[in-house]
Amino acid sequence: MAPRKIIIDTDPGQDDAVAILLALASPEDLDVLGITAVAGNVPLPLTQKNACIVCELAGKPETKVFSGCDAPIARKLVTAEHVHGKTGLDGPSLPDPTMTLQDKHAVDFMIETLRSEPEGSVTLCPLGPLTNVATALQRAPDIAGRIQEIVLMGGAYFEVGNITPAAEFNIYVDPEAAKIVFGCGAPITVMPLDVTHKALVTAERNNAFRALGTPVGVAVAEMTDFFERFDKEKYGSAGAPLHDPCVTAYLIQPELFTGRHINVEIETGSDLTLGMTVADWWGVTDRAPNATFMGDIDADGFFALLTERLARL
Ligand code: RIB
Ligand code: CA
Repeated sequence: MAPRKIIIDTDPGQDDAVAILLALASPEDLDVLGITAVAGNVPLPLTQKNACIVCELAGKPETKVFSGCDAPIARKLVTAEHVHGKTGLDGPSLPDPTMTLQDKHAVDFMIETLRSEPEGSVTLCPLGPLTNVATALQRAPDIAGRIQEIVLMGGAYFEVGNITPAAEFNIYVDPEAAKIVFGCGAPITVMPLDVTHKALVTAERNNAFRALGTPVGVAVAEMTDFFERFDKEKYGSAGAPLHDPCVTAYLIQPELFTGRHINVEIETGSDLTLGMTVADWWGVTDRAPNATFMGDIDADGFFALLTERLARL
């Protein structure tokens, strides 16, 4: 079967980096048409630079990286240096990229690609705030019907918030964008904290990355060593949650995940619960289902896939 055509929209971010590495290590499964950077974990100048750093770490400097939106649609940018460090990729010391960004804006790339590729043949993989995707949908509403699937990391139900008591970071940063995306009518699959908090890089799993002995394996181990502080301190987790790689792993082995097709609405009106994904997990409303919301993961299978694929780079 031909590899699936995807656009990765991202705010690297150590976990974004691992998601990108997994994708670039899986050419038989995924054809990465482009990587679009968005402001999120750190400001855009850093997320776009980090995307290039990761492509070069993967040995794929020919990957097309596009600069996108530098601020949410209707709010001031909120970043997460407290989690990802000043650079957004704290942990390993990786060289500045020599590859250059594409001239075209990320939103134009998304629109043009969705219009030129056969209808229903391109999957969008947002790993950060949904600003780029929502802006593309606002500017070109016709693309909604041309998207094969939107597979995104964001939101939470049972796990509730990681940036506020009610909201997960990606949705919280740009709730207006999330509302547009969840209302666009394209098939949506969501990897919420409910799943990603079960994809924890325990010491044993991180040692397996390091034991690869390759620049990629060691860099991923060092990224995780840095990235896990926040969650260990806040949740007492056994290790860093690999949020964004759940998106890539789903595209390669969907059977690793289970969830429900339910209605998910985004809170944009209340300061108290801004950015909350109001997931009708128990079917208590008559609101139409608009997303497949994942609830569980085969964590051992996930890490086996991830480690095997990273070993290829
Ligand atoms: O809440 C976790 C999400 O926010 C991840 O995508 C992480 O990279 C940050 O973007
Ligand atoms: Ca991210």
